[in-house]
Amino acid sequence: MSIFDQTLNRRYTNSVKWDAMEKIYGLNDTTEILPMWIADMDFAPPTAVSKALQKHAEGAIFGYGFVCEEVKQSIVDWQYNRYNWHIEKEFISFSHGVVSALANILTALTNVGDKVLISTPVYPPFFNIPKSNGREVVTCPLVEQDGMFVYDFEAFEQTLAQDIKAYILCNPHNPGGYVWDEATLKEIIRLCAKYDVLIISDEIHADLMLDGAKHTPLAKIAGDEIDRVITCMAPTKTFNLAGIQVSYIIATDKKKRLLLEAVNMASGQGSLNSFAPIALLAAYTEGLPWLEELLPYISNNMDYVISELTQLPGIHIAKPQGTYLLWIDCRQLGIDEKELMKQLLEVGKLALEPGSKYGEEGRGFLRMNVACSFDTVKDAVARFKLACQSLKQF
Ligand SMILES: Cc1ncc(COP(=O)(O)O)c(C=O)c1O
Repeated sequence: MSIFDQTLNRRYTNSVKWDAMEKIYGLNDTTEILPMWIADMDFAPPTAVSKALQKHAEGAIFGYGFVCEEVKQSIVDWQYNRYNWHIEKEFISFSHGVVSALANILTALTNVGDKVLISTPVYPPFFNIPKSNGREVVTCPLVEQDGMFVYDFEAFEQTLAQDIKAYILCNPHNPGGYVWDEATLKEIIRLCAKYDVLIISDEIHADLMLDGAKHTPLAKIAGDEIDRVITCMAPTKTFNLAGIQVSYIIATDKKKRLLLEAVNMASGQGSLNSFAPIALLAAYTEGLPWLEELLPYISNNMDYVISELTQLPGIHIAKPQGTYLLWIDCRQLGIDEKELMKQLLEVGKLALEPGSKYGEEGRGFLRMNVACSFDTVKDAVARFKLACQSLKQF
């Protein structure tokens, strides 16, 4: 029995995943729908984190706080212990989340009208955040090879040559769960350096490595180009703390850090809420055994879903190397995405994410979040099959 076998009741807790489906999926009643869409887990975080937060609540001191050196040191240690990446405390600045960090980085280090490159399919805020901050989003699609999406570096270089100012990298990749290898990362660095492009590396899924895969922080291998890299990380995906809202930026270039700080100050975002550094510290100093139990559990959930769903004609799934997200290729079902979503929601009572949300290249895929108990995963597979049986193709 694993701690992750427990099924938490998250309904009626103001959870976006469980309680906001009416709005997201345009439904009147979602009480019977199993949500496996947005990227948070149906697991309690490590006990040490909950206990540290409880202690803070009991202490009832909620005035202005600051992030102490011990918290920064826990980040330095985490980076070193997990990635053998040595960073200095002064490289770190904090943010309420990676998405808000992306907005602040773009505001600080690019100008209105600048072109920002993304590789699609990719996490939707990579489109929205630059766009809503007045930047022009330029997409260069990843291409398919052996059932996975990979970089087409010829196309990537041609796009970079079109006066791109910043590139937002998703490492590991959401939605595909690809863990980019060093050769890929080095080519990204080389080409971005050639065209003098800032690299914003979103590494929020870094700790979620499956089956022995190894995450490489892009900045760690950037060599002389390290100052053009801004890394975004957080303990929130790793330890299921998204609602706590804490993330951090690692930047070696002091000038860039000062510009970032100025943007934070300009928007009054100078400090974190007092629970955030406490959660981060407890997670990074005491959460590792929990994480080490989590990762094989997720991997096993994935194996089960893959073995069951790929028996259905027209379904293909490449097992991700990281994340807790499955990227299910349904294109050979030959069914329109809207219709497939309708069957899943109405017949299967299962909420997944339509792949086109990640860009046109994702159309025909579904993203399934398997960070839940094995029983829930089994339930989801049954629901998926039920929805498929109702398709005329079956
Ligand atoms: C690649 C990526 N970046 C950022 C986020 C969200 O980060 P935050 O909640 O810290 O804003 C997610 C959440 O799914 C994500 O997948």
